[in-house]
Amino acid sequence: MNVLGIETSCDETAVAVVSDDGAPAIRANLVQSQLAEHAPYGGIVPEIAARTHLEHLERLIATALDTAGLGYDELDGVAASAGPGLIGGLIVGTMAAKGIAWATKKPFVAVNHLEAHALTARLTNKVAFPYLLLLVSGGHSQLLVCEGVGSYRQLGTTLDDAAGEAFDKSAKLLGLPYPGGPAIAERALRGDPRRFPLPRPLQGRGGCDFSFSGLKTAVRDRVAAFEPGDDADIADLAASIEAAICDHLLDRTARAVRWFRDRHSKGIALVAAGGVAANARLRSRLVGLAADAGLDFVAPPPALCTDNGAMIAWAGLERLRLGLADPLDAPVHPRWPLDPAAWAPKRPR
Ligand code: KG4
Ligand code: ZN
Repeated sequence: MNVLGIETSCDETAVAVVSDDGAPAIRANLVQSQLAEHAPYGGIVPEIAARTHLEHLERLIATALDTAGLGYDELDGVAASAGPGLIGGLIVGTMAAKGIAWATKKPFVAVNHLEAHALTARLTNKVAFPYLLLLVSGGHSQLLVCEGVGSYRQLGTTLDDAAGEAFDKSAKLLGLPYPGGPAIAERALRGDPRRFPLPRPLQGRGGCDFSFSGLKTAVRDRVAAFEPGDDADIADLAASIEAAICDHLLDRTARAVRWFRDRHSKGIALVAAGGVAANARLRSRLVGLAADAGLDFVAPPPALCTDNGAMIAWAGLERLRLGLADPLDAPVHPRWPLDPAAWAPKRPR
């Protein structure tokens, strides 16, 4: 089975071809970043994102098929990110996918971008359901039990900012470029994580929810108080921020691990996904947490944690295998929770 995947939900135009003939394989995986287009504005401009997706998509699709050595007639389906995300970009990607599906008479799959992050560990490591997932990206921070394709139970979510946002906003305060996660991680390598005490919210509290807005305020106060002058100050602040974010993620994930362990004797894995799961310090700490609980730890390689087309193609492939295609008038969803009951979750106490 060969599936073309298109990702345009934010500021990356990504196209991939994934196959599964016994073993999953990524046959092409192209990511065109829009960093330069948005840089002058200090953030992502939705209208510019949509227009830039439109500009690059046709070429990327042609190159992906070329790289995979496949013609349109050899595809078994076309998948596109249909939400959550910026509506203009979602429309560009899904309309391109629907056009190809219509012209080639292949099935179309409207993929939930969060489900694509959630299923990537099955593409890379064939992880079996159920597994516990820490999904941490620029727009989301969630702990979920992945029970099957299309079946997710949310244990916790953020009460304010997402983990990636905490990295991005802190980086901006330090004068570091977007995206803030990699910029902070790189400086943190040379810094002292104990120099600046920063808040660890909700510690010891029930539930598995996250909160990052207090951290942002504390970083702003620190920066205002002493005006970090040299690279060593920035490195120490970066290390302190990274440590605070990791501590908070670990504290909440440890609670979810205990809850999961008590209820899922079959589940054997803790999985991390989303852009923040590319963070080396977070990954190494999650290895320890999983080992202590007797769980395997699985995180896709960093390039498959940040947004990419392979995860969309793979989610499409998983759904097509179950006969879950979508009609050509399927809508896009700027908001699209994985767990429909997530607004009134049964949270562990
Ligand atoms: O999954 P993703 O590519 O896009 C969304 O779906 O949001 O995640 C992007 C986020 C950004 O906030 C970025 O700063 C963060 O992931 N990120 C990282 C690292 N690489 C990307 N955060 C911490 N450490 C990293 N190495
Ligand atoms: Zn993402």
